Amino acid sequence: MKVFIKTYGCQMNIRDSEAIAGMLKNANYEIVDHESKADILLFNTCSVREAAENKAIGKVGFMRKLKKDKPHLIIGILGCMAQSKGDELFERLPHLDFVLGTGQLHKLLDTVNSLVEERKQMLLTAECNDVLTQMGVHYNDGDTSNFSNYSSFIAITRGCNRFCSYCIVPYVRGREISRTIEDVVAEARELVASGTKEITLLGQNVAAFGLGGNVNPPEEGISPFADLLVELNKIEGLERIRFTSPYVSYFNDKLIQTMADCKKICHNIHLPMQSGSNRILKLMNRQYTREMYLEKVAKMRALMPDITFSTDIIVGFPGETEEDFMMTKTLMEEVGYDNAYIFKYSPRKGTKAAAMDDQISQEIKEERNQILLQVLRKQVESDIKKLLGTTQELLVEGVTKTNKDRFFGKTDTSWVVNFVPNAETKVGDIVKVKITQANAVTAVGELV
Ligand code: SAH
Ligand code: SF4
Ligand code: F3S
Repeated sequence: MKVFIKTYGCQMNIRDSEAIAGMLKNANYEIVDHESKADILLFNTCSVREAAENKAIGKVGFMRKLKKDKPHLIIGILGCMAQSKGDELFERLPHLDFVLGTGQLHKLLDTVNSLVEERKQMLLTAECNDVLTQMGVHYNDGDTSNFSNYSSFIAITRGCNRFCSYCIVPYVRGREISRTIEDVVAEARELVASGTKEITLLGQNVAAFGLGGNVNPPEEGISPFADLLVELNKIEGLERIRFTSPYVSYFNDKLIQTMADCKKICHNIHLPMQSGSNRILKLMNRQYTREMYLEKVAKMRALMPDITFSTDIIVGFPGETEEDFMMTKTLMEEVGYDNAYIFKYSPRKGTKAAAMDDQISQEIKEERNQILLQVLRKQVESDIKKLLGTTQELLVEGVTKTNKDRFFGKTDTSWVVNFVPNAETKVGDIVKVKITQANAVTAVGELV
């Protein structure tokens, strides 16, 4: 039977979809790249903003037509929206066959098998810790059109205990649980043995790894996450280690020093700031201040001068004044991000912020969004120029969309560089290039 998987949301969802694809493939299902070719349609969904939910609901609604022509079609909604909406989804989408929440993802194969045997609507949304240890499967057949082999995600924690006041993730992903160092290292070794060069460690707060769900940052000298990095750094054949997202206050000196000492850890950190105003940070229940954020950035820059930063920012949080917004803008300028995901606040039912007074209008959110995008554009334009004339190491990622004769790769600081390959260049190689052009958002290099 043929399966089509559509994924919405963050890297954790991409990773879950990949594990599901791996499980299905091992059970002789075939993964296809278009819904029209499939017998089974899986939608792995996101609830973090209203737009993400609407997109998935719209898409599944549209599948009703397809099912009229192909009554044997099995349609399932998985992941975060499955968890948050549950039963309600069957009411809105009567042609839906099953709903599988975030704690039940490891039951996907059993669920699909039982639906192939006997058709009925199935709802599975219980929280279950087994999902942590049973989702270590990877989709690996050398076919980079579905999931890449040279760069792989590893989920090291699941769930979140932080309850930022705007965020639905703790409600849809459950309580934070961590794997063991041995377990993560074993998965990384297996991936490297089958061609992986770069791993990205995933978690809602990766730096909380191994802290037993404690919401207070660890004391100085304690960082199980740093201990994990040290072990991963020893794996022969692994070239690069990335992670996302870490919560800023968990960067103690031990972790920062470890990052500087371990050669494979990329000098590009995704460090969500959300807001530059201490008043708003407090309302968001983010347990750091603007000053603490800047202090951590400065410490990392002192030890790793080439480090680049990216971030997540929310504009239009309830009560955000012009003054608060200016604090966000100036913090952005002070840090100098080379990438930023700027989100317009979206009220999520059941969260604290959704019930706050002073919700901000869509127009103001849009206006603030545009202003920050402009700040980002300026920063990128000026930073990319600094690459001119330098020699950079790239991990080759593929052929460029606009020119089939050109390849592109990424520096460890996450700049994308296009270059003309030679006869031996392949995806997953590490190559050296000299940067000959660097303007707007793309850099061009020549192999050296
Ligand atoms: N665990 C990660 C964030 C995961 S959600 C962290 O804390 O860093 C990814 C991003 O979505 C968040 O960083 C935040 O910027 C954004 N986000 C979360 N809830 C949102 C909401 N209700 N409206 C708009 N953006 C939101
Ligand atoms: Fe959401 Fe905050 Fe947890 Fe990130 S840390 S997932 S923003 S509650
Ligand atoms: Fe969305 Fe769930 Fe990720 S809500 S952002 S897919 S954890």
